[in-house]
Parts: sequence; structure tokens; C-alpha cells
Amino acid sequence: MRTTVGIVGAGPAGLLLARLLHNAGIDSVVLESRDRAYVEQRQRAGILEQGTVDVLRAAGAGERMDREGLRHDGIELRFDGRRHRVDFPALTGGRSVTVYAQTEVCKDLIALQLEEGGPLLFGAEALAVEDAGTDRPRVRFRYEGREDVLDCDYVVGCDGFWGVARQAVPAGLSRVFERTYPFGWLGVLADVPPSHDELVYARHERGFALLSMRSPEVSRLYLQVPQGATAEEWEDEAIWDELERRLETRDDWRLRRGPITSKSVTPMRSHVHEPMRYGRLFLAGDAAHIVPPTGAKGLNLAVGDVVTLARALTHEKETGSAALLDAYSETCLRRVWQAERFSYDMTTLLHSDPGASPFDGRIQLARLERIAGTRAAETDLAEGYTGFPLDEAV
Ligand code: FAD
Ligand code: DHB
Repeated sequence: MRTTVGIVGAGPAGLLLARLLHNAGIDSVVLESRDRAYVEQRQRAGILEQGTVDVLRAAGAGERMDREGLRHDGIELRFDGRRHRVDFPALTGGRSVTVYAQTEVCKDLIALQLEEGGPLLFGAEALAVEDAGTDRPRVRFRYEGREDVLDCDYVVGCDGFWGVARQAVPAGLSRVFERTYPFGWLGVLADVPPSHDELVYARHERGFALLSMRSPEVSRLYLQVPQGATAEEWEDEAIWDELERRLETRDDWRLRRGPITSKSVTPMRSHVHEPMRYGRLFLAGDAAHIVPPTGAKGLNLAVGDVVTLARALTHEKETGSAALLDAYSETCLRRVWQAERFSYDMTTLLHSDPGASPFDGRIQLARLERIAGTRAAETDLAEGYTGFPLDEAV
């Protein structure tokens, strides 16, 4: 098989890239190791930055998002039993975010790709990217029990943190910057209307809690849990009890309980692989970088990468100039590091680190007081949360 751009992975990065290239008249083939149902049901992100919403709409993938997505103009920070609302439009010149689940973004992009785009093969596992340093890169993959080869002009690794594409960068050229955290998130979906109309980020001595949602009828909630904890060890009632404790306020706010329909634990890490390009192999999304989920940056960063790459490939096609492709890694990394900083700040602001001292706890509260009490600090959070415009580095 042969194509212009071989895309490994059909998460949000790979699917959106295929759509953007299709719109620009550039051929691609997407290889995805899992089946369609798995990709469409994997519970993950829920918050789209304004820039992500604009990109999906412009790509012709925004119709259902515009109907069903929930525009959110703020979040609530909860600490010390107090509640502080951060008003995004007022602080950022009108920006907001949209609650629309990653599962739905993927469903919309898959339907479009199968209807209008190039091949998207489910159950096609990439085994290796080969000859990335030459003009003829290729992907070796297994499909329907047979090994095959996809010959390409360019290969894009959109295969997430555990993918194979990154391994094609020679070890001597790779630099990895990493941090792990001594806790994870237990995430649950519950068939109950959200207990607040905006997201609530709570700092508590017992650990972080997050109240989010998927729709007016479905709540999404997260609890900080110790590293290595499993979802099975948490009974449903214990989850609700713990959420109630960590989200408690001094006023009469109440948590609504309902049937929990799914639960899973996610480890937390920060990870950046530099550079994001080797020869004719480009890395995009989680294949190149991971952020801890606090602040919801991962999917939005993946979107930023593939928009930058689609523009660069289109520029090359139209002008013959590889200048934007050559700048790809550097352009993306400026934005990536700002998101890494933001996610790190949000994580350390709100989680309780088992190794922290009482002093560290007081510093956290002082940082929260500063955000709640000064417009400059609050604006910094609002700008980071709603996302930096795609054309700007920071
Ligand atoms: P992925 O979604 O990981 O997709 C990679 C794809 O490649 C997968 O489909 C995988 O099956 C496939 N693949 C892997 N190996 C191979 C192979 N060898 N061959 C073929 N295919 C392969 N981000 C946000 O922006 N907002 C949020 O609110 C948010 N919340 C989150 C909450 C949780 C609990 C978690 C875990 C993550 C959250 N994120 C959030 C992060 C976000 O989900 C990821 O950043 C996003 O999925 C990255 O997209 P991707 O396409 O780069 O990678
Ligand atoms: C969600 C996830 C996040 O990481 C976050 O900061 C906010 C919301 C969510 O899945 O809804």
C-alpha cells in the first residue's frame, strides 16, 4: 500500500489530521490497532478550548458539537470550604471553553472519515516505522493476521504515549523530560445531573476532587487517589462519601448522588519528547508529550500539533517549500511547554502530595488566595485554561 501521509493512531490527533489533510487535498491512510467501538468509548477528555472548537468547526466536524456541546464561561475553585468563581470571558476578552467529550469528537471524526476521507483501518497495528531518515519512510503493520507495509512520503506518529512511532527516533537524538506524581485520578461517570452548572476544582487536605460533566444528565467526577490504587478497591458509596468530604462548602451546596456506570484510574505524569520530528517522521499529541490532566490540556495540545502540521504539509504541497515542516518541532514545543507549565501549576496547586509538609500546604492556600484576590493572578489562570490562540507561541 502507498500514500502521501501515513498516520499511525486514530485518537483525536490522527483523526483530525486525516480530516485536515483531506480538506487540503492531501492523501492519507490511518492505521489504528484497536477496534472502532473501543476508540469511540474510551473515556477521557471532556473540555475543549475555544481554539479547538474553532478548528473542529472550520474542519466541518462541528455540527453535533455546536448542537450538544455546553459552553462554559467559568470554573469554580473550592478551598477551605470557600467557593471562588473564575469568570473566563471577563478576564480574557471573551474566551470560554466547551464541554464536549473526546468520545464524541472521535465519533464525529470517524464518521466523516469513513464517509468522505481516505482509508481508516481498525485492527491495524503498526509494528515499526522504518527508514524515517530517508525519502521513503514506511510503516510495517499487522492487519487481518498478515504483515503488510505502508509506503509513505511522510509518517505521522499519533499513536499516543504507548505507541511505537517514537521508537524510530535514534536514541542519540532523543531528549526526554519527565516528571511523575505520587498520585493518580479515579474517574467515574454517573447517571445523575451535575451538582453544579460549572466545573468545580477542589483542594482539600484529603486530596483533590473535580466535579465535571458530560451532559445535563451525566456527571463526570474525579478523586485524587494514591499511586497504584485500583478502581476495584473503591466501592461506589465510598466514592460518593469521599467526593462529599472533599467538595464540602460552608454554605448549603449539596452533592447529588446517582448510579455509577464506569470507573477507572489514570496515573499522572508530565513527559516531553524532543524533538517532535526526525527526518520524515513527525510526532503529534500524546506520542510526543503528556500532561497531568488537571486543567484539561492534553487533547487541546494534540489539536494544536496537527493543525500546525497540516498547515506545514499544505504549504509544502502548494509552494514546494519545506520551511514550515522544518519549523514544526520548534513551533509546537513553544506551545507544549506553556501547557506543561500550566498543567504542572494546576496539579501542584490543588493536589495533596504525601511528601508535603504543613508549610507546603499553607503555600498552596496562599497561591489560591492570590488567585481569588488579585486580578493579575486570576487572569493568568483564565488565559491558561481557555488556551493560548493557536497562532501565538505563548
Ligand atoms: P490517543 O488518544 O492516546 O490516541 C492514540 C491512538 O493510537 C489510540 O487510538 C491507540 O489505540 C492507537 N495506537 C497506539 N499504538 C498503536 C499502534 N502501534 N498501531 C496503531 N495504532 C496505535 N485532555 C484534554 O484536553 N481535556 C481533558 O479534559 C482531558 N481529560 C483527561 C482525563 C483523563 C482521565 C485522561 C486519561 C486524559 C485526559 N486528557 C484530557 C488527555 C487526552 O485524553 C489525551 O491527551 C488525548 O487522548 C491525546 O490524543 P492522541 O490522539 O494524541 O492520543
Ligand atoms: C475533565 C478532565 C479534566 O482533566 C479537567 O481538568 C476537567 C474536566 C473531564 O473529563 O470532564
